[in-house]
Amino acid sequence: MTFSAVMTSPITETPVGKPPQRLFIPGPTDVHPDVLAAQTAPMIGHRSDEFEALYAKCEEQLKQLFFTDSRVYILAATGSAMHEAAIRNCVGDGRVINFVNGAFSQRWSDVSVGCGKEAIRIDLPWCTAVKPAQVAQALSTALADGPVDAITVVHNETSTGVTSPVGEIAAAVRSISPETLVLVDAVSSFSGTRIPVDEWGLDICLTSSQKALALPPGLSFAAVSDRALAKAKTVSGRGWYFDFVLLERYLKRNTTPATPAISLMRALSIQLDRIFAEGAEARFARHHRLAERTRSWAVEKGLGLMAEEGYASPTVTTIANTFGWDVAALNGFLAGQEMELSDGYGDYKGKAIRIAHMGECWDGDLERLFGAVEAFTDI
Ligand SMILES: Cc1ncc(COP(=O)(O)O)c(C=O)c1O
Repeated sequence: MTFSAVMTSPITETPVGKPPQRLFIPGPTDVHPDVLAAQTAPMIGHRSDEFEALYAKCEEQLKQLFFTDSRVYILAATGSAMHEAAIRNCVGDGRVINFVNGAFSQRWSDVSVGCGKEAIRIDLPWCTAVKPAQVAQALSTALADGPVDAITVVHNETSTGVTSPVGEIAAAVRSISPETLVLVDAVSSFSGTRIPVDEWGLDICLTSSQKALALPPGLSFAAVSDRALAKAKTVSGRGWYFDFVLLERYLKRNTTPATPAISLMRALSIQLDRIFAEGAEARFARHHRLAERTRSWAVEKGLGLMAEEGYASPTVTTIANTFGWDVAALNGFLAGQEMELSDGYGDYKGKAIRIAHMGECWDGDLERLFGAVEAFTDI
């Protein structure tokens, strides 16, 4: 499914009491004051009934948001740590194929190599999506030389604002090599769009707290399939902190082997309640609506769009710097109004701008940003 197929909802009012969005960068994003405040509650012992109840509640809500019946591991570490966990647990003596179409899919490759795995890197043009046919071809070629334990792909390349059809990719992998695991980074898309993990057959779907979930940085989450857990049991060198087998044992008691980030877990609990109060589907629709509005604003103003057509991200839009704006100066002007957007990433620095519309961002926030950009650039 491409995102143009998603129904968008009509423009709605910003919720009463929500402060104006400040950060239009693709993470960290603004955190609601009630969620920030939740972190100031006194500490409790992490082996207490109170903590285990908090953990169990968050686990259930996360499973709903990942659309999975299996499990979600929660780590006191950022998304890159979950990359490492996924690779250490899911890649054994076989190889891993990393599809690289931007900076964060390159991270999958760097982590695979860093963990000492035999990694095959497939480079694809930035600003384009990874397509099922490209995956099928690379996988078939690699299989001629032996088993492939896993493939990695980024659902939403934050560096370019491109989404890849990971459900179709997983189906392509299954049809060629049913035992190959599909490891997906959904760091900057999770909770901003529907990712039905079980239906799509994703073995790992990982994310960070500081993007569309609109939490402070410091937590990461991964939906892990039974197949991935079974594979982990056969893989040596899983380490300790990231060992799925150990995490599973503690998950059964609604806790983690190491001391959890209790304050962040409290914030998570409040934020999950807020997400379900808005409604998960309404939240996804809001993100798609904001993405559509950002794209149409850019086009109306004569600016180009960088993402391959049909694969534009629902959470971050990459706009060509068609008129050669000084992005640092633009951000200096925006800072005066307590707003910030992002420069292009890597080679696109100065050539593109990225506007994130995720988490707590609403229609009125975007219009305020657009008004300020128009005032500074005279477009
Ligand atoms: C798509 C994607 N993957 C991975 C990461 C790394 O996440 P973290 O900084 O939480 O380790 C980022 C960070 O921006 C990202 O956007």
